[in-house]
Formats: sequence, C-alpha cells, structure tokens
Amino acid sequence: MAKLRILTIWEEEGELLRQPAKRVRIFDRRLHQLLENMVETMREGKGVGLAAPQIGLDQRIFVIEYPEDEERPEETMQRYEMINPEIVKAKGSEIAHEACLSLPGLAAEVDRATYVLVKAQDRHGKSRRIKVYDWLARIVQHEIDHLSGVLMVDIAEQVYKVVEQEDGEVELVPVEELFGQEE
Ligand code: NI
Repeated sequence: MAKLRILTIWEEEGELLRQPAKRVRIFDRRLHQLLENMVETMREGKGVGLAAPQIGLDQRIFVIEYPEDEERPEETMQRYEMINPEIVKAKGSEIAHEACLSLPGLAAEVDRATYVLVKAQDRHGKSRRIKVYDWLARIVQHEIDHLSGVLMVDIAEQVYKVVEQEDGEVELVPVEELFGQEE
C-alpha cells in the first residue's frame, strides 16, 4: 500500500480541489488498490473522510471511517466506500464545526442535513442505498461536496482559524477574509 499526498488549498495544485469529479466506470483491481491507499492516507492524516479530488484525482470516490458507537470507537469502527454517490433524500438541519484535511488549521461552522439517503456503488460496482444520520450524514455531505469542487469554507456560516495555545487548549479565531488574507 502507498500513502498518497493530500492536496491543500494553499498550494498551486490545490486548484484540482475545485474541479468537478467524473463518474467511475471501471471497477477493477486498480480501483480496489486506490481505495486501500485512500484509507491508509486518511488514517495517516487522522481524518474521518477523504475524497479523490483531495489526492488530485477527478473521480467520484470517497472513503470514510467512523464508529457506529462513538463511546466504543475501536470495536465499532466502520469503513464506508462510496463510488458515484448521489444524495437521494435529505432532511433536517444542524450547524456544527467541521475540519478538512485539505484546509489544515481551519474549522468551519456548516449547516448540514441531519439525515441523508445516499445512492452509491460499492467497489464491485453494485448499487446500494445507504441511510446516514447526524455526524455520519455530515461527513457524507462534506465528502460529496468535494466531488463537486465545493469546500466547507464556501458554504460556511463562519470560518475559524484553529489556534493552539501554550497550555494545549484550542482556540477558534473567526476569519473574515479567508482567501484575501492568505495571498
Ligand atoms: Ni474535506
């Protein structure tokens, strides 16, 4: 397996994060290897989700690892691989903080549906319908946005800089002009 490089919005190649991804048509061993590499890369980055555009690939693929029971993460860890995903139904609304491996050092307050029905293919091309709720629904929506070139900061109510204090506490400092400031 190979760890892949995660693109960030601050680098030149980061423009690949802005390109809409294309449908996957071939479900072969190369795809399976790519999924394994994406999972490894996501774990290494301590992320809960990773979409193909984040490694510079314009394909409609993402992986997520999230526990079924947050109190017992190790025993209940679930892996989700979604290929050509589409949101069929969405309900509810909740604002919460998100992070993104392609936007290191930032957090964003984003309004997301609390229930989503997704239609996606698995690694063998089999079509499935998956119901997701709450935090998992949020991650799925975040990853599907990546496949359209949309980042959390584009749709955020508020963007924050994550500042670690000397005592290890984390402070969120509101950012007004994200792209203006960084250039
Ligand atoms: Ni992300």
